[in-house]
Amino acid sequence: MANVLTALQPSGILHIGNYFGAIEPLVQLQNEGHRNVLFCVDYHAITVAQDPTQLRKNMLFAIATYLAAGVDPEKTILFQQSRVSEHTELGWVLNCIASMGELERMTQYKDKARGKGENVSVGLFDYPILMAADILLYDTEIVPIGEDQKQHVELARDLAERFNKRFGQTFVIPKPQIRQQGARIMGLDDPEHKMSKSAASEKNYISLMDDEKTVAKKIASAVTDSESTIVYDVNRKGLANLMTMYSLVTGMTMIEIETMYQGKGYGDFKKGLAQAITDYLKPMQEKINGYLTDEASLKQILDLGAEKAKHLAQTKMKLVREKIGVQL
Ligand code: TYM
Repeated sequence: MANVLTALQPSGILHIGNYFGAIEPLVQLQNEGHRNVLFCVDYHAITVAQDPTQLRKNMLFAIATYLAAGVDPEKTILFQQSRVSEHTELGWVLNCIASMGELERMTQYKDKARGKGENVSVGLFDYPILMAADILLYDTEIVPIGEDQKQHVELARDLAERFNKRFGQTFVIPKPQIRQQGARIMGLDDPEHKMSKSAASEKNYISLMDDEKTVAKKIASAVTDSESTIVYDVNRKGLANLMTMYSLVTGMTMIEIETMYQGKGYGDFKKGLAQAITDYLKPMQEKINGYLTDEASLKQILDLGAEKAKHLAQTKMKLVREKIGVQL
């Protein structure tokens, strides 16, 4: 049994990249009997401007989605980051052992800050430190994530090692767990870059809430190439990405998909894929909508989760205060 932890930002939609990159792997680990922690990182989300009313809605939607995806609050500690103030407290302590240079090397920061000049928020720069605190507070051993978060987990490892060396054994060294297939779902309109919630066009992603018509439209307009065969080839990036999604939602291997579409072209393949995605999403959407009708129960689940998380976080933070010498 290992300590598993992951978290997602409650920013608007959740797309199938988020689902296959982080949520599904966490549910699998939960069902294998590991000790799981999952939370909604609202304090990460505010590193870029958020509308408060919308943020609140996004958070409830995110929790409803985790439950619909199979997260069991009896087995997984499910909560909201801002309710456990030890996250920001440990973040401060880690700020004091991390270097500017380390944070300047974070590629996600560089991507997000590009073009913003001096207007970029300090929070956006500091974001990986809060993420390190999220992970280290709970003696996390495994962090299931998509490929884009690997560098952040490596920073958490470095900070844990540095802290332990300076102050004595305090933190467990976490390991990222990145699935082989589905850890980097690419944008439908741009297979060179990952599918992203903040993409300029809605044609970039399949939201977990997209209906049949929307899925069909988005898949029909997905960028592919001028070849006519349905064959998995990493150099045919658009098709490889669509075949990866096909495989994830149906459980079929690439060879099985190739055989199914032998002698057929993109038209048939895209229709089949859109149908397979819809069949996969529909039952989850029904469950999400069901959970959303009962806000009180969602809040109750979050209250209980925060209580359990707080208990663990307080114990770790007490040890940290002792180690650094602020505990009298
Ligand atoms: P976030 O909210 O951007 O993304 C949530 C999870 O989805 C994965 N992901 C993808 N996986 C496959 N293909 C994609 N196109 C794709 N896009 C996103 C991400 O890798 C992530 O696993 N900083 C984190 C949230 C965080 C966190 C943590 C994660 C805060 N504290 C502690 C783990 C542990 C983030 O912004 O993820």
